[in-house]
Amino acid sequence: MRVLVVGSGGREHALCWSIAASPLCDKLYCAPGNAGIAAEAECVSIAADDVTGLVDFAKRERIDFVVVGPEGPLVLGLVDRLAEAGIKAFGPSAAAAALEGSKAFMKDLCAKYDIPTAAYGRFTDAAEAKAFIRARGAPIVVKADGLAAGKGVIIAATVAEAEAAVGAMLTAGQFGAAGAEVVVEEFLPGEEASFFVLTDGTHALPLASAQDHKRAHDGDRGPNTGGMGAYSPAPIVTEAVAADIMARIIRPTIAAMAAEGRPFKGVLYAGLMLTPEGPKLLEYNVRFGDPECQVLCVRLMSDLLPALIASHDGGLGHFHLRWHDKAALTVVMAAHGYPDAYQKGTEIRGLERAVALPDVTIFHAGTRRAEDGRLLANGGRVLNVTATGNTIADAQTRAYEAVDRVDWPAGFCRRDIGWRAVGK
Ligand code: AMP
Ligand code: GLY
Repeated sequence: MRVLVVGSGGREHALCWSIAASPLCDKLYCAPGNAGIAAEAECVSIAADDVTGLVDFAKRERIDFVVVGPEGPLVLGLVDRLAEAGIKAFGPSAAAAALEGSKAFMKDLCAKYDIPTAAYGRFTDAAEAKAFIRARGAPIVVKADGLAAGKGVIIAATVAEAEAAVGAMLTAGQFGAAGAEVVVEEFLPGEEASFFVLTDGTHALPLASAQDHKRAHDGDRGPNTGGMGAYSPAPIVTEAVAADIMARIIRPTIAAMAAEGRPFKGVLYAGLMLTPEGPKLLEYNVRFGDPECQVLCVRLMSDLLPALIASHDGGLGHFHLRWHDKAALTVVMAAHGYPDAYQKGTEIRGLERAVALPDVTIFHAGTRRAEDGRLLANGGRVLNVTATGNTIADAQTRAYEAVDRVDWPAGFCRRDIGWRAVGK
């Protein structure tokens, strides 16, 4: 079959890497892709959020199946538009993507169906939001309702900080329409975990557990980012915790979305806080995590593509996926300055030496090939240096050996990816 992957990050490189290996895939395209993806797929220069351009391309090239990586085009209705054109796609409809696209929708759904999450209020009026904050006290969390590229969440240590966040969003319009409504919620203590399931709208097939590292610098310090590294499995998600998450959060959500007339298909990514009272939902994402997807893909032994197709067609209830017992760990190499201003166009060398190490795979995020063939950085997060090993500690050692072979003075990475799990 002819497959199109949409996106240009490390997540999409990992998806292309897995899908290209499927015997079902005859031809693979990626829009827009990157320099690493070009080794797996034919890259076409259509932006990931150019819905009309993507639908036209899929029709023209007789694409059988589209796999949508990022949330933007899902929220814009790419899957709906493809369905209208008779093209199957992996991912939720726009109505179902509201689970990520609107935090207020997600919170109201949890309240209506008794799904454990932080207590909250939703506001369009700054004075009311501030009164709520003063009544509850700090620490407290302020979130822009809509998509804000991971920057719309403020963990406020003081009431003044929370009030300033409300002012920035509701009064100063910092995130535009995405911040025209805010959710103010209770701060939840505990350790975070990510949990992924594939779903066809009825059945949920749990994937392996994974853990991200959101802060930019070692010791979980510095600003929030899209994710600086991940490992799988996450020892904190024991079988009992996973069963609890499925029973109390995932299955009720899938049933709730069906009952609301917005059946959810695709991958549901729950960001969770494991609190003393049990797992609570922090957020839903309606796509694979980046960089969590990269560690899942290297651990997956089964063919990914039929599972993605079953998420569209139904029948995931009969599926079983096999995973390597091995652990996987990925280190994100980012351009100096990320997540704030950073330079593009710096040269990266040494990747051949890095991937020559056993059990090492490098997924590209923001890279492009210069006309003379040199590899250039083209984004904030640039490379995902990924390794497997018998334990997370082994995978970590191997991944950093590979990182040290990458010659990119304009980049940096955290040196402590996996610290919570090493030794467990
Ligand atoms: P979100 O985009 O909603 O996942 O929020 C980004 C990050 O903020 C999460 O990964 C958590 O580290 C943190 N966070 C969000 N909501 C809360 C909360 N209610 N309590 C504590 N930390 C939170
Ligand atoms: N790694 C976090 C995310 O994909 O949202």
